[in-house]
Amino acid sequence: MRREGSKAFYIHTFGCQMNQADSAIITSLLQREGYHPAENENDAGIILLNTCAVRENAVDRIEHYLQHLQGMKKRDKGLIVGVAGCVPQFQREEMFTMSPAIDFLAGPDTYRTLPLVIEQARAGIRLASLEFNAAETYEGIDPVREGLISAVVPVMRGCNNMCAFCVVPFTRGRERSHPFKSVIVEVQKLVASGYREITLIGQNVNSYSDPEDGHNFADLLDAVSSEAPMARIRFTTSHPKDISEALVRTIAERRNICNHIHLPVQSGSSRMLDLMNRGHTIEEYREKIALIRSVIPGVALSTDIIAGFCGEQEEDHQATLELLSAVRFDSAFMFFYSERPGTLAARTLEDDIPEAVKKRRLQEIIDLQNSISDKHYQDTVGTVVEVLAESESRRSSEQLMGRTDTNRVVVFEREHYQAGDRLNVLISSATSATLIGRPEHGVVQH
Ligand code: SAH
Ligand code: SF4
Ligand code: F3S
Repeated sequence: MRREGSKAFYIHTFGCQMNQADSAIITSLLQREGYHPAENENDAGIILLNTCAVRENAVDRIEHYLQHLQGMKKRDKGLIVGVAGCVPQFQREEMFTMSPAIDFLAGPDTYRTLPLVIEQARAGIRLASLEFNAAETYEGIDPVREGLISAVVPVMRGCNNMCAFCVVPFTRGRERSHPFKSVIVEVQKLVASGYREITLIGQNVNSYSDPEDGHNFADLLDAVSSEAPMARIRFTTSHPKDISEALVRTIAERRNICNHIHLPVQSGSSRMLDLMNRGHTIEEYREKIALIRSVIPGVALSTDIIAGFCGEQEEDHQATLELLSAVRFDSAFMFFYSERPGTLAARTLEDDIPEAVKKRRLQEIIDLQNSISDKHYQDTVGTVVEVLAESESRRSSEQLMGRTDTNRVVVFEREHYQAGDRLNVLISSATSATLIGRPEHGVVQH
């Protein structure tokens, strides 16, 4: 195909749900200017990578991808390649040295400039659009989402915490909340379009504060759940130091708010939490867990863990294993520490745990957590769970895949059901990450 001057674009999205939401905004902004999404990168005149900088291997992936795009550009000189998101915001103009394939850079607050930046790139001018704009929430832009069942809705952008390991405050800038009314209007549109699941997202949703009249996150969640009574409501991420009793009570009271809280702890040792600048001790974390479990019986809890942060001793690592055994999380995202230039840890602490030790500790954490998750899943065998069907299962068109309200993946016999249905499923077996079953008569709700 001729890529020269083509208005077809293709976005590769890496990283978290915030990037996913931003890709939907970019799509909308470009469509307004006469661009249109391509089916795949081979049909695109413009390829955009929306990138993540949270760990070194995320950045390595981008570098590899750019090598592949460099090959494509050699074959077709008209192709334009841009890098958006957290990596260029973090590396700034220096990023151009990563690959000659890069025609432009854009940071998370500058997507409104993309049409102009692309035009300049076509004229041979390499721009880096990387200004922070602490007022930017992309109000008035209607995101163009993929999928018709589940939607993510950002309620805030940026982060004002300074967790010592984390690059996000540097890539996303100051925290800002979206106006309460605009979130509600977006939810109303999603309900009218038939969405069945709405996930409110932010780096730290508990510090949400309506810029107009100060409503907090519990108020927002309550209002969203009333506006969308037929949809499941999820939210992420909550910071343990900020999760409030009011929020926990709202979740318990509202049937359509999922009984699942993702509450990243990072380490089981108060000494490490202090070095990480997390703002709470492990005892305080355990108290929050006890409160949540007493108010929301049957709640599923998940977490994030970092193994081998600066100065981590064997006893700190043991404390993490003990925490996992005591809390018995449903699931966890587990990583080994990856130093990020410019962060508080990179400036003030030594990355002193050898890689082999980090990896060994991580493996012990993963093994323990997998055995705990496994047990949770096995305990579900023989019970009936409510599932929102999301799509055909990867293995067979005779099966559908969906999730429970506690966010467990369920694969079940399709029968007459389709994506978007909510139904009861009798679980007959389980692997460590999937429940398997068949429908129990009757759809719960359409
Ligand atoms: N705002 C969210 C998510 C931040 S990034 C929160 O506060 O939980 C998601 C996860 O990546 C973090 O919870 C942490 O476990 C992990 N992470 C962040 N920086 C990291 C680093 N430098 N090395 C390893 N893991 C990291
Ligand atoms: Fe990073 Fe901490 Fe902010 Fe999460 S709360 S984005 S871990 S600085
Ligand atoms: Fe998300 Fe990665 Fe940026 S986790 S905020 S895309 S650094």
